[in-house]
Amino acid sequence: MAAKPKVTMNFPSGHDAHGLELPPPDDDAIAHSTRLAEVIAERIESRGGLIGFDEYMRMSLYEPGLGYYSSATPKFGAQGDFVTAPEISPLFGFCIAQQAAAVIEQGCGARVLEFGAGSGKLCAQILSALPGLEAYQILDLSAGLRQRQQALLQRELSAELFHKIEWLSSLPQQFDGIVLANEVLDAMPVHILSKQGKWCECGVAYDGQRFGWHYFAPDAPVIDAIRSIESRLGDFADGYTSEVNLNYLPWFRALAQACKRALVLIIDYGYEQDQYYHPGRKLGTLTCHYQHRVHNNPLVYPGLQDITAFVDFDACADAAEDSGFELSGLVNQAQFLLANGLLEESQRLADESDAMARMTISKQVGTLTLPQEMGEKFKVLAMQKNIALELPAMQRKGAHG
Ligand SMILES: C[S@@+](CC[C@H](N)C(=O)[O-])C[C@H]1O[C@@H](n2cnc3c(N)ncnc32)[C@H](O)[C@@H]1O
Repeated sequence: MAAKPKVTMNFPSGHDAHGLELPPPDDDAIAHSTRLAEVIAERIESRGGLIGFDEYMRMSLYEPGLGYYSSATPKFGAQGDFVTAPEISPLFGFCIAQQAAAVIEQGCGARVLEFGAGSGKLCAQILSALPGLEAYQILDLSAGLRQRQQALLQRELSAELFHKIEWLSSLPQQFDGIVLANEVLDAMPVHILSKQGKWCECGVAYDGQRFGWHYFAPDAPVIDAIRSIESRLGDFADGYTSEVNLNYLPWFRALAQACKRALVLIIDYGYEQDQYYHPGRKLGTLTCHYQHRVHNNPLVYPGLQDITAFVDFDACADAAEDSGFELSGLVNQAQFLLANGLLEESQRLADESDAMARMTISKQVGTLTLPQEMGEKFKVLAMQKNIALELPAMQRKGAHG
């Protein structure tokens, strides 16, 4: 058996080894992160000194009991590391419920399957706006989050609505209804590639003190993915570095198998390929979130920070079509919410509110829709299976959707 690697991570106060200004973790967080670093270092050693970044990201986020999403620390909202749309405003869930109601009227099953339900707020918002739903199923990789979701939903919903929620540990069969994934695909592990004369994959090694980057030759599926993008968009310059996500196809295939009839809404930050792999975006889209600081060094604070990559909506759409879904469209979040009653509902709420609450509502609408906030960076990709739904919200208006 290999000797256990000694792990002494550097946890800088104020600055990390790469000069980033990050708040220092407390002693408990350091102990937690060191335990995960040890497990990752062992894996690296067992693989001969190097693992792909995709494996490092998977372990950092999902290693049982230790990964960022597997542990019990708060992630969403002011006490956490980042804020998502359902945390910003209940108007987000209201608009999705409007869309769900419209397709249920057209014959889609009256149930929701939500992937990666976060704090549970989106579920609470949708069930409150659509109490007639037959069932609301949640499938989350994170056991820690499942407990938080249960606590929040029990607190916020009536017993009758709460009992409509079911936590699944695997995909359902013959699902008929609306599938939601808000900020889930960006949390899937990616491969990082860098063009150094030829394409090299970026792997992670450990030198006894910290994790570091090392190039290696990519496997066939990884090199095929980047070459197919390059053949479509033209040659990338030397030094160009970006990610590919090979999880879309297996994920959509499994989802397609689980669905008898469905509308699927993928909501996330991302680009179509000409923007994702724009020559100017020469370091890719990988982003880390730690206590509301955004930076691009995933190798520090393993297990304490979120690691995410933007969604390649063209690759997603191809994977969905290959899996048997019919695409309904891709629009930006602002357009989707506005077409699903955002302004009407915010006006209704404002009419019932005092001046302070009106200001809050108007700020929330701005955050969800303004181009410099979430309005354009976030997009909605819709697809359907075995049903012909009319989705006016998904009709692109203007060049940018
Ligand atoms: C960035 S959080 C978003 C949470 C929530 N949807 C929100 O908007 O606040 C990503 C979530 O996706 C979950 N997740 C990632 N990959 C998943 C998968 N393949 N199946 C189910 N959940 C997944 C994570 O456990 C985590 O709860």
